Amino acid sequence: MGIEEKIKELERRNQEAELGGGLKRIEQQHAKGKMTARERIEYLLDKDSFEEIDKFVVHRCHDFGMEKKKIPGDGVVTGYGTVNGRPLFVFSQDFTVFGGSLSGPFGEKVCKIMDLALKNGAPIVGLNDSGGARIQEGVVSLGSYGEIFKRNVWASGVVPQISVIMGPCAGGAVYSPALTDFTIMVKKTSNMFITGPQVIKAVTHEEVTPEELGGAMTHNTKSGVAHFAEDSDEAALDRVKELLQFLPQSYREKPPDVACTDPADRVDKSLNKVVPTNPKLPYDIRDIIGVVLDNKEFFEVQKYYATNMVVGFGRLNGAVVGIVANQPRSLAGCLDINASMKCARFVRTCDSFNIPMVTFVDVPGFLPGVHQEYGGIIKHGAKIIYAYCEATVPKITVITRKAYGGAYDVMSSKHHGGDINYAYPTAEIAVMGPEGAVNIIFRKQIAESDDPDGTRQKLVEEYRNNFASPFKAAELGYIDQIIFPENTRPRLIRALSMLREKVDSIPSRRHGNIPL
Ligand code: HXC
Repeated sequence: MGIEEKIKELERRNQEAELGGGLKRIEQQHAKGKMTARERIEYLLDKDSFEEIDKFVVHRCHDFGMEKKKIPGDGVVTGYGTVNGRPLFVFSQDFTVFGGSLSGPFGEKVCKIMDLALKNGAPIVGLNDSGGARIQEGVVSLGSYGEIFKRNVWASGVVPQISVIMGPCAGGAVYSPALTDFTIMVKKTSNMFITGPQVIKAVTHEEVTPEELGGAMTHNTKSGVAHFAEDSDEAALDRVKELLQFLPQSYREKPPDVACTDPADRVDKSLNKVVPTNPKLPYDIRDIIGVVLDNKEFFEVQKYYATNMVVGFGRLNGAVVGIVANQPRSLAGCLDINASMKCARFVRTCDSFNIPMVTFVDVPGFLPGVHQEYGGIIKHGAKIIYAYCEATVPKITVITRKAYGGAYDVMSSKHHGGDINYAYPTAEIAVMGPEGAVNIIFRKQIAESDDPDGTRQKLVEEYRNNFASPFKAAELGYIDQIIFPENTRPRLIRALSMLREKVDSIPSRRHGNIPL
């Protein structure tokens, strides 16, 4: 064969591989509103930046007549490229090839790029659209999954890992996305579950549709498995690109700064009016977060889950920050099991990737209830303590209103390593709210008084004036500065600038034992 024929042969083979499961299956994929594996990669990466690896890999299965059905690439497209000029490793499961099911060689391809990502310090993005373990391969497929899971764990905290669910993701296959930092689901076309509706019906007699059981909104609102729900493949991939801008390439780096056009000394009078004077009235903490950040842009994470806790990313003077905040508008900002898990996980994500944190506090306490206690609020609440105490990134706290009891301690208090702790003049920092405190310490006095209600009211007022304020905490140095709300942005930017080169550590050990 001459060189020209050899080139033609390569072209023919390339074309064959690029067609995956063939035109008919590509059409079926499009008819479902889904892009193909290759179209997704093309959309995600910078133009012409994709370098494919293992394009001609085929399976080695000889059972069930599979030896006659070999498709180059074997159901997954893998390689590397750039997003906004920054390197990235990607695998994209191809549903048109054996339903995107995972064979031994398919798993080896994924592991190869995961190993490269780890050695070279760049994020891994997995685009999932698969029927799970390739049934014809049996335990070979399970072994390959196991190898991927192990690498997901090894990569955890080393390079960012993002999963996008763009089709089925069932059985043990869900554990790879579950081990990654962020999971984005496409509404209507994606689902995740360990056991599907039919098995559930047979075992527990519960009837549920795939969408109800494991659709995008289920995992964004009920289970907390997913972090984002998007309307289309394109929107999900746009979300990945946006998210990557807040993350470093690996734990060895800081997230990328951008030039900031929003003045660092921008004062905003609207902030003076956000916190209502009546402590019982709710407000939206995003009215503070949104105003303070550069260009008033807040990238919220897990927006639909545990809405009493708000987490996400933004920038201050061009530098990335992670935001954690109690949300008084939902459950009065109480800490419950779900909010605790959401908060702790996000704090650990920020600390893994050198992202300084700003915590806005308005928390009346932990949510009381039998369900909460039986569900383990003790161990879940402890996760917040654990996460903040082990985090060595810069930590700034702003108490806007309530910081009561244990909840005061856990929300990035000075005692848990807050570097700079601010309070608004509206802050109420005490062991408990005025009503509760007065009912306990003045119980006798109130009972014996001629006018119990009037006496209680008077004592509550006295307690509120003397103790439900930021001044006691400021006298003790637990609060570094009581700030005017309008100055929040300049104060945060100065503190972050001071903390930019912070070096800190906690005692060394094999690894900690976070309460799980
Ligand atoms: C081999 C598979 C497959 C699989 C789908 N296909 N899943 N081939 N192994 N796991 C094939 C189908 O045979 C079909 O081939 C083609 O892919 C498209 O599938 P359809 O069923 O026609 O598509 P659709 O109607 O859209 O349904 C998609 C689906 C369904 C919901 C994913 O295919 C399905 O239920 N598949 C089985 C899912 C499953 O139980 N997987 C094992 C889970 S356990 P043809 O040639 O006919 O078009 C698991 C363990 C992992 O994954 C353990 C890790 C530790």
